[in-house]
Amino acid sequence: MGIVTKPWKSNHKRSKDYELIRKGYSQRIVREILKGTSNHKLDHLLDLGTGTGQIPACFYSFAKKITGTDPQKERITQANIRFNQKKKVTFRQESAEKIKEKNNTISLVTAAQCYQYFKKDKVIKEIHRVLHPGGKVCILWKYPNQNTWQANVALRIAKKTIKKFRITLPLPRDMEPQLKTLPVLSNLKKHGFENLSYKKITSKYHYSFLDWVSLMTWPMGAGTGTLDPKVLHFIENELYLALQKKGFKNGIFETYDHFLFQGYKKK
Ligand SMILES: C[S@@+](CC[C@H](N)C(=O)[O-])C[C@H]1O[C@@H](n2cnc3c(N)ncnc32)[C@H](O)[C@@H]1O
Repeated sequence: MGIVTKPWKSNHKRSKDYELIRKGYSQRIVREILKGTSNHKLDHLLDLGTGTGQIPACFYSFAKKITGTDPQKERITQANIRFNQKKKVTFRQESAEKIKEKNNTISLVTAAQCYQYFKKDKVIKEIHRVLHPGGKVCILWKYPNQNTWQANVALRIAKKTIKKFRITLPLPRDMEPQLKTLPVLSNLKKHGFENLSYKKITSKYHYSFLDWVSLMTWPMGAGTGTLDPKVLHFIENELYLALQKKGFKNGIFETYDHFLFQGYKKK
């Protein structure tokens, strides 16, 4: 049996799981993203590939208006449930390649864990069009830091799982080299952005058991929603035993690296 990629849950359920699993972004990364934007509240934040609205949730108190877009209907449904018709947040089913905002109207555009899916030239052109002069774009990812005991446990179990289920996918344990193959800054430069920067920021999160399963399945090229239940249950069991040995029952700390690419539209 090879890696199983067929979805085993409805998309809606998977979006719900996604929200449970991904715990948003740390205050440190939020502060970093807000640097260089207006000293007062942001007029309008546009979050591309918003998923279930993790970024809007983190920036809620820093913006007057927030729009989140995502091509997946189920993600938008889940995002709407999360914000329960709060007036300043709006979600739309929409791809980042064609943004329904007017020219020069957005203060900050964010794209978290999704740039890899974009048609890059189209999307960056669109971001440039909608940002107001001096507006900022932030493209980011987060990934478990590899220099922790948790990461070592995860790697050991991932290897065991791969052997047992004869999964043939490689283990992309280190995200940074992979990200470097996505030419983010050079693409921003090509489309007229300036003051470009790249930063790696490490923060700690409080994580639950379920998050660990997510952490475990990522190296296998799948989210929890796309793994066969048999594989998932095997991982869950192995994790449970490993965590018990370490004296953890449910909540644990995990260290995450953020990879942040930033640029500004010329004033
Ligand atoms: C890994 S999730 C990240 C969600 C959210 N930004 C977060 O940080 O939790 C990637 C998201 O990118 C979205 N996506 C995929 N292709 C896209 C596109 N062409 N335009 C906009 N979003 C896209 C997917 O639907 C998915 O919700």
